[in-house]
Amino acid sequence: MTHRRPLIAGNWKMNGLSGDGFELAEALVDGMADVETPAYDMLICPPFTLIGGIAALLDDSAIALGAQDCHAAEKGAHTGDISAAMLADAGCDFVIVGHSERRTDHGEDDATVKAKAEAAQGADLIAVVCIGETEAQRDAGETLDVVCRQIQGSVPGNSIAANTVVAYEPVWAIGTGRTPTNDEVQEVHAEIRKEISGLLGEEVAQGMRLLYGGSMKPGNAKDLLALADVDGGLIGGASLKAEDFFGIAQSCP
Ligand code: PGA
Repeated sequence: MTHRRPLIAGNWKMNGLSGDGFELAEALVDGMADVETPAYDMLICPPFTLIGGIAALLDDSAIALGAQDCHAAEKGAHTGDISAAMLADAGCDFVIVGHSERRTDHGEDDATVKAKAEAAQGADLIAVVCIGETEAQRDAGETLDVVCRQIQGSVPGNSIAANTVVAYEPVWAIGTGRTPTNDEVQEVHAEIRKEISGLLGEEVAQGMRLLYGGSMKPGNAKDLLALADVDGGLIGGASLKAEDFFGIAQSCP
């Protein structure tokens, strides 16, 4: 079986001013310097305003930098938007696209998310494509159908494992303290990998990292990260405290 190196990704969302944001980044840099041979890759995705400053702080660190969104167009008349090339230029390696909060707050559909992922890949960024069912969809037994549809709609057809990560985040688990059972998470991840295999081929599917997101904490990370098809986490709330974020990272098998 292909070895997939776990990715521990922090999604800071709309949190962090220069004071606390830089402090958190510095604490992570210091913490990472103490880890002799990390068994994982670490990524942080601060708000746009902190990216330039944090890029400088991460310079000699093993921690990668990402953003939380990008526009699908290369450049042009899109007031207030940020292109993938701008993110790469500012020091990012990754960008999250299609987070459920963007899908809900900004009406982003699968086609928009796919276009953003293509823009990210085109700018040599790694796209972290987010998918996940709502609580109503889970209750109606539609979870597997929904995530397969989202994979087909949101993941560009020429994606490879080196430029794409998929994050499964059940909408009802985000920021709620609730999570699916470990068996449920593994079931969905296995289905996602199968769907990716159909779309991109088995080799790409075996190499691609699938993250779980939604109320991942130091207390539940070990079991989630041990699941066969879970290759890391996309962490919101618990990524805002260095101790909790490292607690999760150190739970990697
Ligand atoms: P949470 O958020 O860890 O606070 O649930 C995860 C996410 O939305 O990426």
